[in-house]
Amino acid sequence: DRTIDLAVISGDGIGPEVVAQGLKVLTAVLPPDVALETHPYDLGAKRWHATGETLTDEELERLAGHDAILLGAIGDPGVPSGVLERGLLLKLRFAFDHFVNLRPSTLFPNTESPLAGRPEIDFVVVREGTEGPYVGNGGSIRKGTPHEVANEVSVNTAFGVERVVRDAFARAQARPRKKLTLVHKNNVLVHAGHLWKDTFDRVGREYPEVTTDYLHVDAATIFMVTDPARFDVIVTDNLFGDIITDLAAAVSGGIGLAASGNINPTRQFPSMFEPVHGSAPDIAGSGKADPTATVLSVALLLRHLGHEAEAARVEAAVTADLAERDAAPVRTTDEIGDALAARVAR
Ligand code: IPM
Ligand code: MN
Repeated sequence: DRTIDLAVISGDGIGPEVVAQGLKVLTAVLPPDVALETHPYDLGAKRWHATGETLTDEELERLAGHDAILLGAIGDPGVPSGVLERGLLLKLRFAFDHFVNLRPSTLFPNTESPLAGRPEIDFVVVREGTEGPYVGNGGSIRKGTPHEVANEVSVNTAFGVERVVRDAFARAQARPRKKLTLVHKNNVLVHAGHLWKDTFDRVGREYPEVTTDYLHVDAATIFMVTDPARFDVIVTDNLFGDIITDLAAAVSGGIGLAASGNINPTRQFPSMFEPVHGSAPDIAGSGKADPTATVLSVALLLRHLGHEAEAARVEAAVTADLAERDAAPVRTTDEIGDALAARVAR
């Protein structure tokens, strides 16, 4: 417990640059009696170009033995769409049963939102991470003909829905506002929608202090723009969660600040923490990448591993750094990392 055994998948593009800053801050914030051991994994587009491999069984097995995984970003334009998504990122999320995809949105001081009036934004999306249309349960017949039929079936199990809904209620209960919104589309997707809504209502009876709300996903996108302050915790399925968390990032300071945790709350497998942004090959190597999303992902990692005080220190450092940022000259990736590491150091 006094050692954090961390697998590091830096990946491609700006991935290695932002991960270096995340590790810098992690090293600086840890108390002297907690050691950090890092184990780099060469995975991503570079590896695929060189070997044709995405993730071997042997690597998957080795990864399973670490306390957590820090991932930078994966991919470059030379890899066909879907290869690394299915072969690496989703493979890890499914293999390690990351059923809680945690994506907080906070509008930090001094950051810009495209929304008028700079509303209060402080909510967290609990996106289901192992089911929905992501599972690859589909196929097409008469492919390439005018009569092609393509199916991509959304899988929703009572087990999978209940465990993520329970996690979201527990998170809502632990927050000051204690409000949980279910986002779905149960007026059209009646089968899955019914399962989600019934489960939500049933589990909700065990949480009388939590205020509950239901929104169709289309309406939720409206409110995220017109009244984001109404949200506290949101629980939703894998695909709706993918879409609304990009919108959430866009309204709360941009994708450069959006952190995420792919969490297995049972700790049966390592959880994986990553910025929501991609590998941004256009700015790779230029020092322009903002490492803040990775640093905030490190805070989620610390919290997951039970280092709450350190997680809070990292978040406070980001808040303080952003508050002073408009006065500061434009800084490089490295300089932002140094500034954050200096702020968290004891
Ligand atoms: C994300 C990404 C992934 C997803 C892709 C790259 C498979 O968009 O982490 O949100 O859809 O989950
Ligand atoms: Mn996405």
